Amino acid sequence: MKKVYIETYGCQMNVNDTEVVFSILGANGYERTEDISLADVIMANTCSVRDNAEQRIWGRVEQFCLQRRNRKVVIGIMGCMAERLKDALLDSGKVDVVAGPDSYRSLPSLLEAAFDGHPQINVELSREETYADISPVRIDKNGVSAFISIMRGCNNVCSYCVVPFTRGAERSRDASTIVREACDCSQKGYKEVTLLGQNVDSYNCNGVTFAQLLEMVARVDPRMRVRFSTSNPQDISDEVLYTMAKYPNICKHIHLPVQSGSDRMLEKMRRRYTREWYLQRVAKIREVLPGCGLTTDVIAGFCSETEEDHRDTLSLFEQVGFDTAFMFYYSERPGTLAARKYPDDVDIETKTRRLNEIIELQCRKSLESYRADIGKEFEVLVEGPSKKGDGQLCGRASNNKMCVWADNTHKAGDYVTVKVTDCTSATLICEEIR
Ligand code: SAH
Ligand code: SF4
Ligand code: F3S
Repeated sequence: MKKVYIETYGCQMNVNDTEVVFSILGANGYERTEDISLADVIMANTCSVRDNAEQRIWGRVEQFCLQRRNRKVVIGIMGCMAERLKDALLDSGKVDVVAGPDSYRSLPSLLEAAFDGHPQINVELSREETYADISPVRIDKNGVSAFISIMRGCNNVCSYCVVPFTRGAERSRDASTIVREACDCSQKGYKEVTLLGQNVDSYNCNGVTFAQLLEMVARVDPRMRVRFSTSNPQDISDEVLYTMAKYPNICKHIHLPVQSGSDRMLEKMRRRYTREWYLQRVAKIREVLPGCGLTTDVIAGFCSETEEDHRDTLSLFEQVGFDTAFMFYYSERPGTLAARKYPDDVDIETKTRRLNEIIELQCRKSLESYRADIGKEFEVLVEGPSKKGDGQLCGRASNNKMCVWADNTHKAGDYVTVKVTDCTSATLICEEIR
């Protein structure tokens, strides 16, 4: 058996795709290794969302090439960068196989030809491929939490974003195969599944909506938690909120990327909502789901952003009070609408300063949000020992906040009730309630 080593970058969908690839390769005479020095095949599952994500991968490819010094190794690039750069990756001379996100079924034959010395590329995008019939080989070691992709691609055209180019058109996976996979997870002892899509609220397969799918998955096992990501402010429906309220095992957390607090920027970004609409969605979430965790993504320094636009973002962050945020400065992606239409005209110093101002504000808001949980009790799903290695356990509350507490009786996959006694801006410090 040949050994295959894969490093995964980018979003949770990529993690799940790597699991799909291990499944496909496992059925074709390959076995997984986590030791790069033993691998016959070394691959990176890549991300193109920002330039620095790609730069990092080029650095890794250099490292992979060093493995060629004493043995035959096939080096592959899969995922979004494969799709974006195509032949240019082969032209670099460092890579033997280039496989886009919809081509993974062909990997066994691509690799075989590459072992015979012929570089291979398949970057065909598909309108149908959802890998619905493939049982992913879970790579997350704790055996507690599993990803289930419910759709692929994206039909939005946010002007800054490369994802529609790298992942192709949106398609939803058949609901019965999703429910089957959730049942399988439950039988294997998983305690949490996360449903993945770039815009889960536009899920629609033969009339089944996302709210209905969520309900179907929640019913699989009342002791198995259900999470989902990502929600788009323009599409998140009241039905989804009511479904969340109805099922205790649907975690009360919504990741709702805002991108900017300025209507002028939102329009230019081709996000199809306004600041006011976003704030109303947040108000509705808080009305239907009190205590629901709320997180976001934001981009600082998009094309032509003024100080006033930036202040609108700051004031929105002040007003909403997110628990956490993923904060970036704008990185122009070749081929996107923004790259073709708008100059990337906010200088790097200004982008960095604005980003830092958002980060600073959010740090304060995170602390506020975490402090507000002091004194509360939560049921936490144990993920394992805390990172500090001090004998404490860690796990998430329903609202997605990480909890740590001293515990020598429980293990990963157990549910434990804790009370929050203290916090940082990223962790709830708790004690177990017996
Ligand atoms: N489908 C999700 C986002 C996927 S990309 C959604 O619509 O919300 C994840 C995040 O990367 C985005 O939310 C955005 O904040 C950021 N991002 C995407 N393109 C970017 C770019 N060109 N520059 C900087 N950040 C970007
Ligand atoms: Fe990109 Fe917009 Fe699609 Fe999200 S919804 S993946 S930001 S195009
Ligand atoms: Fe990156 Fe592709 Fe995900 S660009 S964020 S890996 S969809």
